[in-house]
Amino acid sequence: MNILLLGKGGQVGWELQRALSTLGAVTALGHDTLGPVACPDLRADFSQPEQVAALVRAVRPDVIVNAAAHTAVDKAESEPELARALNATTPSLIAQEAAQLGALLVHYSTDYVFDGSGDQPRTETAPTGPLSVYGQTKLQGEQAIQASGCRHLIFRTSWVYAARGGNFAKTMLRLASERDQLKVIADQIGAPTGADLLADVSAHAIRSAQSQPTRSDLLGLYHLVASGHTSWHAYARFVIEWARAHGLPVRVAPEAVLPIPTAEYPTPAQRPLNSRLDTAKVCQAFGLTLPHWQQGVERMLIEISGK
Ligand SMILES: NC(=O)c1ccc[n+]([C@@H]2O[C@H](COP(=O)([O-])OP(=O)(O)OC[C@H]3O[C@@H](n4cnc5c(N)ncnc54)[C@H](OP(=O)(O)O)[C@@H]3O)[C@@H](O)[C@H]2O)c1
Repeated sequence: MNILLLGKGGQVGWELQRALSTLGAVTALGHDTLGPVACPDLRADFSQPEQVAALVRAVRPDVIVNAAAHTAVDKAESEPELARALNATTPSLIAQEAAQLGALLVHYSTDYVFDGSGDQPRTETAPTGPLSVYGQTKLQGEQAIQASGCRHLIFRTSWVYAARGGNFAKTMLRLASERDQLKVIADQIGAPTGADLLADVSAHAIRSAQSQPTRSDLLGLYHLVASGHTSWHAYARFVIEWARAHGLPVRVAPEAVLPIPTAEYPTPAQRPLNSRLDTAKVCQAFGLTLPHWQQGVERMLIEISGK
C-alpha cells in the first residue's frame, strides 16, 4: 500500500508517521519539506491548492491521509481566506484527485462544525451550525470531500493533545507551579482526545477499508473522541491533582483552581459550549472500544514528566 501523509509535523501527523508505518510505504510531507522523488520541486503547501493537487497526481498514492489544517482557531477570524484555502479548497482538490485515482482519502474534522447548544452528545447526522471561521471552513472541507465522490473516511474529533509540542496540560502544569490561583473555563464540555488514539484508529480503519474494498458501508463520516467528557476546569483539576500526587512542583491549592464561565474569557472565535460527540458509529463499524479520556491524559502526563 502506498500512503501519502500530508501535515506530518502536527500533533496528529506526527503520531500518524508511527501508526501508518506498518501499513505500507509512507511518503510523509510537511508544508515546507522537499517534494518526493517523483516531483522534487512540488511542496505540500496548502496555501497553494493546485500545487498540492499536482503533487497527489505525481505520487499516485493508494491512500492519502490529510492531517494538515489551519488550526489556529482565533487567528482564522482575521485570515479567513488562508483558513479557507487550508481547510476547504485544498482538501477539495485533493478529494478530486483521490476520486480520479480511486484512492482512499482520510481527513480530520472537528466538533466546531456544531453550534454547541444543548447537553447531549451529537451523532454524525445532527445539524451543523459553526460559530467561527475555523468551524465554517472545516465544514466546507467535509462537504467538498463528500461531494467529490472519492472513497473517504472523515473523523470529527475534539480537544486534541499530544505529548510532543505545547498542550493545555503543559500550560496548566506551568501555571500551577507559578501562581496561587487559576481561573479555568467550566462551561465548555468535551472529550480530551490523544493524537496517538486518533492515529491508531485511523490505521485500523484504513486497514479494514483497504482489505475489504467492497465494504463501502465502512466509508464516510465518523465521530472519534475518547470516551467520557469533562470541562476545561475539571481537566485542569485532574492534571494538577495528578501532578501533586506524583511530586511535581505545584503551588496552587486545589480549591484555588476556580471555575469561570466562557463569558469571562472572551476570544476572537466563539467556541461551542457542548462538544460532546456520540461515537457509537465508529465503535460499531470498526469493532472498537474507546478508552476513557483520563487514561490517555494520564499516559501523556507520565510521558512528559518522566514519572
Ligand atoms: N487540535 C485540536 O484540538 C483539534 C480538534 C478537532 C479537530 N482537529 C483537527 O485534527 C487535525 C489535526 O490537527 P492537529 O491538532 O494535529 O493540528 P496541528 O498540530 O496544528 O497541525 C497542523 C498541521 O497543519 C500543517 N500546516 C499548517 N499550515 C500549512 C500549510 N500552509 N500547508 C500545509 N500544511 C500546513 C502544519 O504543518 P507545519 O507544522 O509544517 O506548519 C501541521 O503539520 C486537523 O484537521 C484539525 O482541524 C484538531
